[in-house]
Amino acid sequence: MTMDRWYEQAGIRNGVRRIFHEESEAGKVFFPHRLVPYLSHEAVRDLPAERHRELAVRHLYQFLLSTAHLETRVVNRGAELIANGRSGIELPMSSRLDAFKVYCDEGYHSLYSLDLADQIGAVTGVPVPRWNYGGFVDQLADAVDRTLPDHPELAVLLQVVVFETLITAVLNEIPHDDTVVTTVRETVRDHAKDEGRHHHYFTGFFHELWHQLDAPTRVDVAFAMPALIRSCLLWDVEPVRSSLVLAGLDDTTATAVVRDCYGGDPGNERIRAICRASLRMCESAGVLAVPGAAEQFAAHGLIDGSGR
Ligand SMILES: [Fe+2]
Ligand SMILES: [Fe+2]
Repeated sequence: MTMDRWYEQAGIRNGVRRIFHEESEAGKVFFPHRLVPYLSHEAVRDLPAERHRELAVRHLYQFLLSTAHLETRVVNRGAELIANGRSGIELPMSSRLDAFKVYCDEGYHSLYSLDLADQIGAVTGVPVPRWNYGGFVDQLADAVDRTLPDHPELAVLLQVVVFETLITAVLNEIPHDDTVVTTVRETVRDHAKDEGRHHHYFTGFFHELWHQLDAPTRVDVAFAMPALIRSCLLWDVEPVRSSLVLAGLDDTTATAVVRDCYGGDPGNERIRAICRASLRMCESAGVLAVPGAAEQFAAHGLIDGSGR
């Protein structure tokens, strides 16, 4: 799963445009209902079936649109630094070229995410809302300022590494779910294939980055990493709130539903499941061997206090 055969294997090089056909999808949902927690909330569950369908379609839109924003506004910012030799890390030309391959992939993932939302909007008649995801991008920037104020570019790169090592786990929740419309599953499967290669690339990049850091910066990074990982798991709940208002809930009720469904901690088990690969990467690079680092990871609920 390396980038060596990118010209033959990447979705942008040999993939097909996925086309949504509603007539073949009777009885399927647009997004796995187990991943749309508010559908079973008491203020939502008794809405007419048509409102539920629209909510699931808009949940898919927020998944697709947040993907497009994440890829172009966050991941590609880091890929550009690496590709143009501005990351502060000494890398061979092959690694810089690979970063441009990632850059192309992420642009294409954004294109087909918005394309699929647009196609589904045209067939179902559920308009694609104009969500801007500013809150999501601001939250990530806040985490950069808070965790590594002396190394902002390094923090940006680390957030990208974390996203690129955990996204495959998020994507893999969908393609195997046969309750979901085929075109959605195929699109997410296409994406997951590319991300498997990115995962491999960014794990290697992180090992190299860690190797090149001086000792004091390693300590700073080791202590910042848990908060940076948690920052990548924060939800921008505004699209969900907006979707609930579009389904007919008043502002106060929509806000309460969002608080009930997303206000609490998602639970360490789920967080650890999504972050497993990122945590493994930190462990294999030696981050957890820095004195005091394991305690920081445990304090953020990423490992047990015993160091696991
Ligand atoms: Fe991607
Ligand atoms: Fe990626």
